[in-house]
Amino acid sequence: MSSVTPETSDTGAIPDDPLTGHSYDGIQEFDNPLPGWWKWLFVGSMLFSPPYFFYFHSGVESRTRAASYDRDLAENLQLQFAEIGELKADRETVVKFLYKPNWLQVGKVVFKTNCQSCHGADGGGLVGPNLTDDHYKNIREIEDIIGVLQNGAAAGAMPAWKNRLSTNELVLAASYVASMRGTEAANPKAPEGNVIAPWPDPPAESDAQ
Ligand code: HEC
Repeated sequence: MSSVTPETSDTGAIPDDPLTGHSYDGIQEFDNPLPGWWKWLFVGSMLFSPPYFFYFHSGVESRTRAASYDRDLAENLQLQFAEIGELKADRETVVKFLYKPNWLQVGKVVFKTNCQSCHGADGGGLVGPNLTDDHYKNIREIEDIIGVLQNGAAAGAMPAWKNRLSTNELVLAASYVASMRGTEAANPKAPEGNVIAPWPDPPAESDAQ
C-alpha cells in the first residue's frame, strides 16, 4: 500500500504516521499498523489451534478434562466394585450393606448424583416422598426398595434406574435409602403411605468390612 504525504493538520503539525490514501468527506485515514506483539499473538494462536484441536477433539477417545474425569471415575468405581464383586439384588444383600458404613458412602454418592433433586439432599422429600420417616408408599419389605429403584413407580414420576445404574450401584443406593430411615431431615415432607415394620437386624455373621 503506497502511503501518501500527510497533509498539514489544523495545528500545522504534520503527523509522523503515513496515510492510507483514503479520504472520506475530507477525513483522512492513517495507516497505523497493529503492534508487533498483537500480530505475533494472533499468529501464535493460529499455530496453536490446529494441534490443540487434533489433540483434544479428533482422538479415538476424547482427551478433554471431562472425559478423563469420567474415565477415572469409572475406573475408581471398578476398583471399588472389584472388592465386592457383582452384588445380588436381593433382600440379604441390601440388609448386609445397610450395616456397612463404608459402602453406604458409595450409595450416598449415587444418591447425591441421581436422587437428591427429587428426594432432597437429606432424604426429606421434595417432588419425591420423604425417605426418613416410617411411612412408605411402595415399600413393605426392605427388598421392595430395589424393585422401586429398578422399575420406578407412579408411572414414571419415580424414574426407573435399571438401565442407568449398575446393579451394584442400585443395591448400595437401596441400602443407603434404607439407612436414611429414622434420620432428621431439615425440611421433612409430610408422611405419605403406611407405617411399615422396622428393617431387619444385621446378619449374624459379621465379616468386618
Ligand atoms: C424425577 C424425580 C425423582 C428422582 C430423580 C428420583 N425419585 Fe424416587 N420417587 C419420586 C417420586 C415422585 C416417588 C413417589 C412415587 C409414588 O408416588 O408412588 C418416588 C419414590 C421413591 C421411593 C419409594 C418411596 C415410597 O414411599 O414408596 C424410593 C425408595 C425412591 N424414590 C428412591 C429414589 C432413589 C434411590 C433415587 C435415585 C436413584 C430416586 N428415588 C430418584 C421421584 C424421584
